[in-house]
Amino acid sequence: MGADATIVLGIESSCDETAVALVTADRRILAERIASQDAEHAPYGGVVPEIAARAHAERLAPMIEAVLGDAGMALDEVDAIAATAGPGLIGGVMVGLVSGKALAMAADKPLIAVNHLEGHALSPRLADEALGFPYLLLLVSGGHCQILAVEGVGEYRRLATTIDDALGEAFDKTAKILALGYPGGPAVEKLAREGDAKAVPLPRPLKGSKEPHFSFAGLKSAVLRAHESGEHKPEDIAASFQQAAVDCLTDRLEKALREAGPFPALVVAGGVAANQTVRGALEALAARHDMRFTAPPLSLCTDNGAMIAWAGCERLALEPEFAGDPLDFKARPRWPLDPQAEAVRGAGVKA
Ligand code: KG4
Ligand code: ZN
Repeated sequence: MGADATIVLGIESSCDETAVALVTADRRILAERIASQDAEHAPYGGVVPEIAARAHAERLAPMIEAVLGDAGMALDEVDAIAATAGPGLIGGVMVGLVSGKALAMAADKPLIAVNHLEGHALSPRLADEALGFPYLLLLVSGGHCQILAVEGVGEYRRLATTIDDALGEAFDKTAKILALGYPGGPAVEKLAREGDAKAVPLPRPLKGSKEPHFSFAGLKSAVLRAHESGEHKPEDIAASFQQAAVDCLTDRLEKALREAGPFPALVVAGGVAANQTVRGALEALAARHDMRFTAPPLSLCTDNGAMIAWAGCERLALEPEFAGDPLDFKARPRWPLDPQAEAVRGAGVKA
């Protein structure tokens, strides 16, 4: 593909990031902007849905204009509009999806209603041209902790999920317990660098278990008890928590590989994939199994518009005659990637 590659505008608004990007089918990010709402939510120690929806509504239209301006493009030069249609906080999803519909209608271009999780799942292919199907995906974000066999665009087999908290949520709660502020993941990672990962005995829930899933609620409670005991330094708690989490990830991935493998590649995506200790452990695991390892750059790990635009590009590549999703496509608070997978108690609803 040359300069005339398909161009998709992507809109993301399912949680606390308002993000817009222009991406081409030949993997160029022409422009992107992202506005975090950390400052708005920080006083509450977590995302407040009403505040999020209002912030998306205020920011989205000027941001779309700015991204088109950055790329020096007019709306009618875009080939399709991709917007997150779920899962996520429904108010925010509706704001983004309605904006996408309005643009699609105004420019007479196809609307692509994107599953936010599919955005995460395919984003590694935006960064890594050589990554083909199938791959074993660890999707670790604030609302999800899943292992998926990615067999193609739209073809996902869930091998494991969390029965309670997502791992990003556990990072955020650990940060709250240690009074590190919000968002918690990066703060815990930073503090953990100064601590001893062996100092605090913490559980590895479901490690070695016959069931395939994850569980992090017990780990979070153990972090709280360790903190309240007053016997441990915060940096040791952070490091020990992070190590316990990583041990759970590798144990469950080993199990998935034994039962559904082999796979040519191991891929990590979602906000927690920004964590260097997590990346390091997965890279080592991939090497042990002779698998290729792909982790998208940090900017593609946490919520962003480029991954939504890219999911749109993938959909168009799969169905070149695709006329677009219906303009009355409804926002979906829940939208599993693998509809065949049985519902698991407590599995996160946030994306
Ligand atoms: O994918 P994402 O941006 O939003 C969701 O769709 O959930 O993931 C956000 C989550 C948060 O829980 C955040 O604490 C976590 O990813 N996270 C991290 C790191 N950076 C973000 N967790 C651990 N280490 C990090 N460096
Ligand atoms: Zn996400």
